[in-house]
This record gives sequence, C-alpha cells and structure tokens, in this order.
Amino acid sequence: MASVTFILRLTCSATETKMGDQMMPPMLAFDIYGTLIDTRAVITQLAQWLPNEAAQFVTLWREKQLEYSFRRGLMRSPCDFTVPTRDALDYCCDQLGCDLTETQRAQLMAHYARLPAFADAATGLAEAKARGFRLCAFSNGSQKTVTHLLRQAGLLPYFEQVVSVEVVGSFKPHPQVYQHVLTTMQVQAQDSWLISGNAFDVIGADQQGFHTAWIQRNPQQAFDVWRTDTGPVQPSLVRPGLEALAAHIGHYLDQQQP
Ligand code: LAC
Repeated sequence: MASVTFILRLTCSATETKMGDQMMPPMLAFDIYGTLIDTRAVITQLAQWLPNEAAQFVTLWREKQLEYSFRRGLMRSPCDFTVPTRDALDYCCDQLGCDLTETQRAQLMAHYARLPAFADAATGLAEAKARGFRLCAFSNGSQKTVTHLLRQAGLLPYFEQVVSVEVVGSFKPHPQVYQHVLTTMQVQAQDSWLISGNAFDVIGADQQGFHTAWIQRNPQQAFDVWRTDTGPVQPSLVRPGLEALAAHIGHYLDQQQP
C-alpha cells in the first residue's frame, strides 16, 4: 500500500518531467561495478592462488583499472573496458611479484565477466521500480558485457535500458558520457539521479546537473574532496547500501518541493 501511495504522490509531483502529453517519473541511473556488482568477489579465486596477496591484489586491481580508464579517456584512446581491466591485472602481477600463468589470468578475466551482485541489489532495484522510478544501468562496461553480467546476476529485468559509455568513446567521468545517458533515456539532468558507489562517478554526474546518491560500500572510505566555484561537491544522499534507497530519494524529492 505504501508504494501505491508513493506512486500516486509521484504522479502529482512537481519533480516530474512533461514529455509531450506524458508526465515522466524521475530516472535513476545505476552504476554497475562497485554499486550493483561486487568487484571484490574475485578475492575468492585469488585467495586460492595468492593467499598472502589476495586482499592487496583485489584493491590494487580495481584502483589501477579505474586509473587506466581515466588515462585512456584523457589520451583519447577509446577501447573496451576489458582492456584497462586486463592491463591492470597484468600490472598487479608485476607490481606484487605474483607469478600467475596465462590460464590463471584468463580465468580471472572470465570471473570478472560473471561477478555476483551485492546482497542488497535486487531488493533496492525492486523497491525503486515499485515506487515508479524509471531505471537504467549505466556503466563503463560494454553493452554486451554489462547485459550478460546483469542477466547472470538476475538484475536485468529491473532495467528499462542498459546504457554503455562505449558509443561515446570515453569513460566516466567524461561529461559526454553523462549527457549520453540523458539523451538515451530522454530525460533532463534535473529529473535524473546517478546512483554510484564510486565517488568520482558521483562528482562527474553532479557536475552535469544530476541529483546523486553515493552508496558508501566501505564505511572506512571518505567521500572525495572536490572543490568547485560554488563550493565542495556533496552527494544529494549518502546511503550504506541500496535497501530503502528509493524511499530516501522519495523523501528528498518531497522536501525539495516548494
Ligand atoms: C562502471 C564503473 C565506474 O560500472 O564502475 O561504470
């Protein structure tokens, strides 16, 4: 009953966008890696081969993968997200002195293509859908990779669309990738939310006018310090996970109304 009430409230809300004769509910763009899908899950496989280095390896792999994607963007050398992922994997082996065979490296990459969802992902998405929001998946990963990943994690049915940065030829947080998701979903930034566990992603979307929710997957991790002419960037919402996120977004939007 609560969700029915909210949908009715949403239907009359000033936060909606008029698209022709249709009133559109807000759009939520969900980041994938580190938000819905747990990149640290490769640790299970790594721990069998590298019991002493696994934890350090998994952290460095993710950090380096993102750094390489940023650099690819800056250098305007577009590629599939699997390229910085694989390059970062090889870098970690060199840096940490881990002698993984080609077969083991290929197995890790295969593991990356079927990473599991965080335990709260399905609940959070189901709640958001039940409250009438429009949902899309929005990732650095290619359309094919992300579609496959979400299907095997059981999350694909929640989304209206899977939106990949690949057609833009850059990676997050390039401004064009956020414009691309708005164009694809036919929505204005002020009626859109970026939901991400990655602070750099939240900041990138904020600078394009989105509302943002930072999913603080690691309670020890502070939000990035990012000054702008109008003050430091702050997420619209900070949540420890995806459960009850939709209710918090609804509450936030209600409070924004005049
Ligand atoms: C993604 C990266 C940023 O899914 O995690 O786009």
